[in-house]
Amino acid sequence: MTFDELSPADRRLVDKARRHTLTSYAPYSRFRVGAAILLSNGEIVSGSNQENAAYPSGLCAERTAAFYAHATYPDAKFQTIAIAAVGTDGLELPDPIAPCGACRQSLLEYEKLAGGDVRVILAARDRVYILPSVRSTLPLAFVEF
Ligand code: THU
Repeated sequence: MTFDELSPADRRLVDKARRHTLTSYAPYSRFRVGAAILLSNGEIVSGSNQENAAYPSGLCAERTAAFYAHATYPDAKFQTIAIAAVGTDGLELPDPIAPCGACRQSLLEYEKLAGGDVRVILAARDRVYILPSVRSTLPLAFVEF
């Protein structure tokens, strides 16, 4: 679908994710990602990718937002996460990007804690995808045994 077809609540979340691409610290990749998470207490917690000279020490926007959200509101359940990205040319990407495997696994933990689906909105200039759950993005996921 397109941005205009989203519900007002989803548009607000996507706006937050887009705005947070501006807080990205990405001097190495110059690829800016923003994420915004709507919690069951009505709060929206946002994050962006934070890179480091020791490359693997950096963190994606999704995990920055997710860890901050749960560290700040440990009793709130995740409801929806929106993700947006700006390419190396400084423009929003025409097509959505999807979270990396480590972010999917991390988000799955919070979906499990929520006890219900966490919707994933992948937003880009021309297209927006809504995925019904984190689980749907990670087939054969590792879960506690
Ligand atoms: N990145 C994210 O923040 N989220 C994604 O879903 C994919 C990649 C970041 C990591 C790194 O800072 C930059 O984008 C380039 O990979």
